[in-house]
Amino acid sequence: METRLRALQEEALDALEHTSDSASLEAFRITYLGRKGGQLTALLHQLGGVAAVDRPRLGQLANEIKANLERRFEERKQQLGAPVGKAEQQQTDLSLPGRYLPFGSLHPITQVMEAVCSIFESMGFAVAEGPDVELDHYNFEALNIPKHHPARDMHDTFYVTDSLLLRTHTSPMQARIMEKQEPPLRYIAPGKVYRCDSDMTHTPMFHQVEGLLVDRDVSFADLKGVLSSFCARMFGADLALRFRPSFFPFTEPSVEVDIACVMCGGQGCRVCKRTGWLEILGAGMIHPNVLSGVGYDPDIFSGFAFGMGVERIAMLKYGIDDIRLYYENDLRFLSQF
Ligand code: FA5
Repeated sequence: METRLRALQEEALDALEHTSDSASLEAFRITYLGRKGGQLTALLHQLGGVAAVDRPRLGQLANEIKANLERRFEERKQQLGAPVGKAEQQQTDLSLPGRYLPFGSLHPITQVMEAVCSIFESMGFAVAEGPDVELDHYNFEALNIPKHHPARDMHDTFYVTDSLLLRTHTSPMQARIMEKQEPPLRYIAPGKVYRCDSDMTHTPMFHQVEGLLVDRDVSFADLKGVLSSFCARMFGADLALRFRPSFFPFTEPSVEVDIACVMCGGQGCRVCKRTGWLEILGAGMIHPNVLSGVGYDPDIFSGFAFGMGVERIAMLKYGIDDIRLYYENDLRFLSQF
């Protein structure tokens, strides 16, 4: 037993010499001095089994070795300047400042959506919301797009059942709003829409804001006025804007509105496909079939509607050339807004 005690002391002192930081010092403490499983503690437990006549001498020797190792351990700890040991590790310094959690912020798309809505609200438009899972009737039929109409092909629809789908635009809100009330009315309907579509300027889920105004004697000039004034407030009065003839089954006449490409200033680049223009919305005068479908008399009432892509507007506002960046959840990108 004496030989084993002395050998252990030698080995431990040698190991102590080789410690270099708080981690190795802690490993030393656990290996040799630890109360559970430490090698010295294990030898001390075996003292009970030695001959009674040797026990006092060996007990004293073991205590001396233990005290010696503990003293040398403390000295080494001072040398390395390392706080170790469970009690010390758990000590709390109440004078330390607290940990700051980084502030979160609204997603850029939410910010742009709120900006769009607040411009229209200031023009007297009320806000309405509707379901993402929509009836075929509101998404297509009520918008003058019967079954087998070729315009359905442009929408790349995700169907749930034959008569239920993920809405492909916010335009179903037109009939939903109109069938509940009489003109005059002035609404916007922001929300998510879905299309089986993905590239630099298209994502399978994106956001639109629908606009709808119905009254007596509403003309195309009113539509131009509202949209020009919106674009001036959103992008600044200097930005060039153009109304380009287009086709939607639920408006007649129909237009698409482009703004001068903010990436290249209208010179032509990859993002605007060398045209110098970027499309931000579709619009037009509400088709008489849609008005009569909800019980309005098209000879008395007229109105306009528009639907704008929020991601597109956010790309232009912030100079982002790939729409998919908005949905990759990369905080380095998102925290810039
Ligand atoms: C429509 O969705 C029509 N409902 C707009 C409308 C409303 C016309 C009312 C007339 C009256 P369009 O498919 O062009 O139209 O989409 C409108 C805008 O949504 C586009 O100008 C574009 O900015 C945006 N958009 C379309 N597809 C995507 C997509 N996959 N990802 C991101 N934005 C898109």
